[in-house]
Amino acid sequence: MNPIYWDLGDGVAVRTYTLDDAEEAFALVDANRERLHPWMIWEPQTRSPADTRAFIQRCLASETDMEGNGIWVDGRLAGSMGLRVDVSDAGAEIGYWIGGDFEGRGIITLACRRFIDFAFDELGLHRVELCAADTNTRSRSVAERLGMRQEGVLRGGVRTPQGFLDLVIYGILEDEWRAPAR
Ligand SMILES: CC(C)(COP(=O)(O)OP(=O)(O)OC[C@H]1O[C@@H](n2cnc3c(N)ncnc32)[C@H](O)[C@@H]1OP(=O)(O)O)[C@@H](O)C(=O)NCCC(=O)NCCS
Repeated sequence: MNPIYWDLGDGVAVRTYTLDDAEEAFALVDANRERLHPWMIWEPQTRSPADTRAFIQRCLASETDMEGNGIWVDGRLAGSMGLRVDVSDAGAEIGYWIGGDFEGRGIITLACRRFIDFAFDELGLHRVELCAADTNTRSRSVAERLGMRQEGVLRGGVRTPQGFLDLVIYGILEDEWRAPAR
């Protein structure tokens, strides 16, 4: 996949990580462990910048997914997000997290809008999915704010450091995203 660089205005930018970002990206994880721990299975496994570097390396090696992107706010790394792309079914799953200093400002919703536009306009996909543990109300609010439809619940569908949790699936189709009344 080609790297992305998007200026979203108001000092917010999204760009694909390079290996040079590993230290800063690890420091952000390290500063947000308590917030990530309930939801992210990779949090306890991310113990050093080398682990983050390996993650970035895996992301850069993928020919289809675009999972390793940072969100910068006024030049500070604020969060991470990306897309897992299912080429055969022309769909993608969006994933994200943001540091506590930047939460509650609409930055994730803004960046999700850009990723969904990108999925439909530039990747030619027809469906975008967002999955969140049923108890992750902040993440579910992002899906609802974006106008995604709740489609179902996978019982015990996500492994987290607190155990298996039910996973709520939200989806939006290209024609719904393009509909004027969104
Ligand atoms: C889930 C997570 C990314 C949501 O972040 P967030 O900052 O709440 O999401 P948004 O960027 O959409 O911001 C929404 C908030 O900004 C407010 N906001 C301000 N301006 C806004 C704007 N222009 N547009 C949208 N919302 C705006 C909203 O009212 C909402 O406020 P609230 O906190 O009172 O509900 C964050 O809580 C997180 O990283 N959690 C830990 C990791 C995690 O759970 N990741 C997801 C796993 S599925």
